[in-house]
Amino acid sequence: MVKRGTISRDLTPLLLAVLGLLIVVSMGSTIAEARKKPKKLSFFMFIAVQNNSHLDNPKGQFTSVLSGEAPVTPQPFAFGNLHTFDNPLSKTMSLANPADRVGHVQGWYGNCGQSTLTLCLAQTFAYNDTVYSGTFSLLGSGMAMDPVKYAPVVGGTGDFAFCRGVAEQSRVFNAIVNSEENSWFRYNITLKY
Ligand SMILES: *[C@@H]1O[C@H](CO)[C@@H](O)[C@H](O)[C@H]1NC(C)=O
Ligand SMILES: *[C@@H]1O[C@H](CO)[C@@H](O)[C@H](O)[C@H]1NC(C)=O
Ligand SMILES: *[C@@H]1O[C@H](CO)[C@@H](O)[C@H](O)[C@H]1NC(C)=O
Repeated sequence: MVKRGTISRDLTPLLLAVLGLLIVVSMGSTIAEARKKPKKLSFFMFIAVQNNSHLDNPKGQFTSVLSGEAPVTPQPFAFGNLHTFDNPLSKTMSLANPADRVGHVQGWYGNCGQSTLTLCLAQTFAYNDTVYSGTFSLLGSGMAMDPVKYAPVVGGTGDFAFCRGVAEQSRVFNAIVNSEENSWFRYNITLKY
């Protein structure tokens, strides 16, 4: 017969070793997760909209085209218009330096308001800033003229897997360049997992 005291005396070093190992493993995975799951992202998006009244425009370099509209036009606030886009993302408000690129965002925006200019957005960011990479998707509608717009981020893949959050968006530059409307938007994104 083995006495109780003997068992606990024998197992104590083993238990301590297992406990220590568990602590080290859980700390390691917490650090790895903190590194691999960003809580904040900030970047710029460029968009150039093709000019439909000036289609023969070799200098025009659009990133967005009108891909649908209502059967009877014009509609108030261009209701029913749908644009498809593939917009580059950059750390700076410039496309000159390839090292600043952090991916692109692809999707649609539609004019979905009959009483105010409202845009519905459905888009996926393919993001890679060399620390974090993966995709996250945004879905939402908002008044186009609001200086800052907010939209939900509904999920992601890669380093953004299982994220949800809020994207804060504002237009920070706008000009007509080679007969096309060019704009830069700033995005600040807050994510949870
Ligand atoms: C992200 O970009 C870096 C640097 O360009 C590249 O080495 C890496 O393969 C990219 N990652 C993914 C998942 O595309
Ligand atoms: C994003 O963050 C920057 C820096 O903190 C801030 O200047 C800007 O107003 C924020 N919001 C938007 C939509 O750019
Ligand atoms: C589209 O092109 C026409 C004809 O060149 C020009 O008058 C108009 O300003 C352009 N519109 C935009 C938004 O660039």
